[in-house]
Amino acid sequence: MDLTINTPEGTRDLLFSECEARRRVRGALAELFQGRGYAEVITPEVEYYDLFIQSGNPIPQEALLKIEDRSGRIMVMRPDCTTPIARVAATRLRTSPLPQRLYYDQTVFRDRGAHRGERREIAQCGVELIGAVGEEADVEMVSMAVESLRCCGLKSFHIELGHAGFYRALAGRMNMTAGEMEGVRAAIEGKNFALLNDLLEPYRGRPAWAALRRLPYLFGGPEVLDEAEKLAGESACITYLRRLYDRLSAAGYGAYIRFDLGLVHQLDYYTGMVFRGYVEGAGAPVLSGGRYDNLMERFGRKAEATGFAVDADAVVSCLGQKAPESGRRLRIALTKGRIQDKAVALFERMGLDCSPIRNPGRRLIHQIPNWPLDVVLAKAPDVITYVEHGVCDLGVVGKDTILEKGGSFYEVLDLGFGKCRFALAVKKGDDFYGTYLTRTVASKYPNVTRSFFEGKGMDVDIIKIEGSVELAPILELADGIVDIVETGATLKENGLAVVEDVADVSARLIVNTASMKLNKGPIGELIARCEAAGEGTV
Ligand code: PRP
Repeated sequence: MDLTINTPEGTRDLLFSECEARRRVRGALAELFQGRGYAEVITPEVEYYDLFIQSGNPIPQEALLKIEDRSGRIMVMRPDCTTPIARVAATRLRTSPLPQRLYYDQTVFRDRGAHRGERREIAQCGVELIGAVGEEADVEMVSMAVESLRCCGLKSFHIELGHAGFYRALAGRMNMTAGEMEGVRAAIEGKNFALLNDLLEPYRGRPAWAALRRLPYLFGGPEVLDEAEKLAGESACITYLRRLYDRLSAAGYGAYIRFDLGLVHQLDYYTGMVFRGYVEGAGAPVLSGGRYDNLMERFGRKAEATGFAVDADAVVSCLGQKAPESGRRLRIALTKGRIQDKAVALFERMGLDCSPIRNPGRRLIHQIPNWPLDVVLAKAPDVITYVEHGVCDLGVVGKDTILEKGGSFYEVLDLGFGKCRFALAVKKGDDFYGTYLTRTVASKYPNVTRSFFEGKGMDVDIIKIEGSVELAPILELADGIVDIVETGATLKENGLAVVEDVADVSARLIVNTASMKLNKGPIGELIARCEAAGEGTV
């Protein structure tokens, strides 16, 4: 790579009209914030690593861009604006009266992995309201969130509210360990209904069991608050959200407000209401915020606080898009190969006319004639990429690829076909664990392999192999393999045997997070039909 002509991955030069569009959005936001009595602060682009680690900031360590100063201290390019501003408010502004209204227009830097088409430099404009208590502050925040997107010129958007306390209260009735609570939280937030059911199975019949199982479905208009109350009984959080909604509606913001009671965020960071802004045309939220009442205390000044940030470049790119047609066709990415045939059979049981996919020729996109749905045929990892970026609303992909590649999407259904498992296998008769020597493991799935052995507290060397992994132990490149086992024939015919199962695999239905919120009706119907026609239920 020519380092003199390429900019680092995730960064780019902006020219002329791009600068103007960004300046316009940032200018509109700054004007709004100032008009509401917020004063600007600018914090350093480089901060000590410790600041973000010790503040409990939920941004993962590997996403921080690190540099070292001359004395060997580790510093990071600012990954977030809230933490440094909380530091300023607790130190330099320690004696200033509360509440403090602060705003920023700064770049944050995050490394979200190679070749994902993700930006490393994110232009954030946001506010922090420090020391303002309860409802009043939350109304101020949400109404400003609406105004923020409106003043940029966006029309088709909504702000979605959740409450960290609602989940905490329900989970509290179940006597779960902290680890279980985090697992259930992640399953709810990822709308991973299958995993959630499994995790909650041991708690069947306990007081909050039914409510927790239903939590990922509780998103949409104010009617979800009624359903939540029916399920969970009287809840201070729901009463609070309803009061907030009434006040926001009275102020003319009601049409922009939605709820997702499964929106929990990191439990140890956010303490109350959390919210996100979704815009038609963006594959991810363009605005994100919430209440973080414990952060200031970490810097020695106890004060409640709430705030939000707008991703200015994401807003700019939404503004540049054509207005979405009403009744637009949904797009589903389908993994080519083994999964494809079973998925097509499922779609046909759902009543979809799949004749174009049955005779695909070399075409990669097919219209379903009797449903507003287009089917995209893609390789498994690309299904995830297209869904994550929001260019496909839904996807059908194996759990093996999900475990290996990860990503941010809802994993809504276990489709029950494409069943196989990940297993650790060795040459027949070999004792993989019976040595103190570091073992070498070959796999097409290095991330799955790493997390399996990390779970055992065991350090192994991993070699990435692209296919026919069974060769690696036979040729003595590795002591074992972690691979997919379906019938077991490949292992058997090559003199290998399973030592241990790693994970079960089957095909999953995944959904883009923003699309789920913006197309709740049609996507909900597809999910329901899929579930009804699924292998497990037929
Ligand atoms: C997969 C897997 C095993 C085999 C297991 O390979 O990696 O090699 O199938 O199936 P079995 O238990 O039914 O024998 P795939 O056919 O995808 O080819 P690859 O090894 O070249 O990736």
